[in-house]
Amino acid sequence: MPENEITNKFRLGMRKFVYSVSVVSNLHEEKINAITVSSVTSVSLDPPSVVVSVNKKSSIHESLISDSRFCINTLTTDEQDIAEICSDPKRGVERSKHFELLDEDVPLLSGALLNIICRVDKVFQYHSHSLVVGIVQDVISIENQESLIYQDGIYKSLPKQHSSVMKYLILF
Ligand SMILES: Cc1cc2nc3c(=O)[nH]c(=O)nc-3n(C[C@H](O)[C@H](O)[C@H](O)COP(=O)(O)O)c2cc1C
Repeated sequence: MPENEITNKFRLGMRKFVYSVSVVSNLHEEKINAITVSSVTSVSLDPPSVVVSVNKKSSIHESLISDSRFCINTLTTDEQDIAEICSDPKRGVERSKHFELLDEDVPLLSGALLNIICRVDKVFQYHSHSLVVGIVQDVISIENQESLIYQDGIYKSLPKQHSSVMKYLILF
């Protein structure tokens, strides 16, 4: 099969995955960087660690260096506008105003479902992307909010879960 056909089939196939949407943020040389990502996954519990795949062409890439700190802000369904701002290269200047600084060096979104504060442990180069492994230093989470989901090129929210009593009432 020609290589571009495999790439296209792979790209279309990956659209079927269901992703939580996060924004990776950091502070570098007094500038707040933030990009929308879906590639966050946990690596291990001991040490508590995560990995995120970051495109080398993205504005944040050069600043994700060993020992620097960053935050993974997992978005709620109310924060689609932030996901759009942080994934549009033309809207870079709009990003910083949504963040507040923790300990004067980590920008975080205070209304996010999760703030996972990390320190860069290792960066693995892989063609167009770098796999950034972070050691988790702290996790802040809020309750009663739903994760913003991305699938098939669109933002979604998960259907609300009904309790068994509610299911009974709906069925009968
Ligand atoms: C839902 C969604 C998920 C994304 N996931 C990633 C990702 O995991 N890694 C990445 O490098 N870019 C990802 N992107 C693309 C970046 O957000 C986009 O290229 C962004 O504009 C890069 O930042 P910059 O404009 O500051 O260079 C994603 C975009 C969207 C809309």
